[in-house]
Amino acid sequence: MSAAEHETFIKTPKQLITAVVLSFVVPILIIVLLVKYVGAGDRGGSGNNALTPEATEARIQPVARFELKGAGGAKALRAGEEVYKAQCSACHAVGAAGAPKVGDAGAWAARIKTGYDALLNSALKGKGAMAAQGGGDFEDIEIGRAVVYMANSSGGKLAEPKAPAPAEEAKK
Ligand code: HEC
Repeated sequence: MSAAEHETFIKTPKQLITAVVLSFVVPILIIVLLVKYVGAGDRGGSGNNALTPEATEARIQPVARFELKGAGGAKALRAGEEVYKAQCSACHAVGAAGAPKVGDAGAWAARIKTGYDALLNSALKGKGAMAAQGGGDFEDIEIGRAVVYMANSSGGKLAEPKAPAPAEEAKK
């Protein structure tokens, strides 16, 4: 057996002190690094995004939000011509499927004589080849306006229906 086999790293008091200090410092360093690594993500508390303009605005907005709505509900009511162009002109501009053509006073005269209520009723519920609301999805008053627009473009003199109760108020 040689003497070298009994040797250790620590030979002097200075080396012993170094070894003792390192045995404390190294684990602590590892722990510190681990903690930093775990906490590297988004931290809560101060320093988060609580002060961004959006967050501030959401925080200070009034409890009840105020929304201005038209008399007829959330969406603005469309004018008769608008509804006609969107939904009714497909048939009524050309007279498709036997529809009375807008502008053709002769085709409308007899119908207009039945009165606004009757015309509106036909337009709302459908008549012959025409589906209810001409197949559209509108407020009744919007259909009423379209009926008036169409009839008045075809020799009629119907009064523009007024919201919110067009059918009862408007007359021939
Ligand atoms: C699919 C084709 C079609 C569309 C779309 C259509 N109509 Fe008609 N409409 C007709 C036909 C066909 C008639 C004739 C019905 C009959 O007298 O048998 C008619 C008749 C009418 C009449 C006369 C009803 C009466 O009592 O004499 C009115 C008013 C009318 N339509 C309004 C409208 C309005 C308003 C729209 C859009 C919202 C519309 N139509 C969309 C086909 C259509």
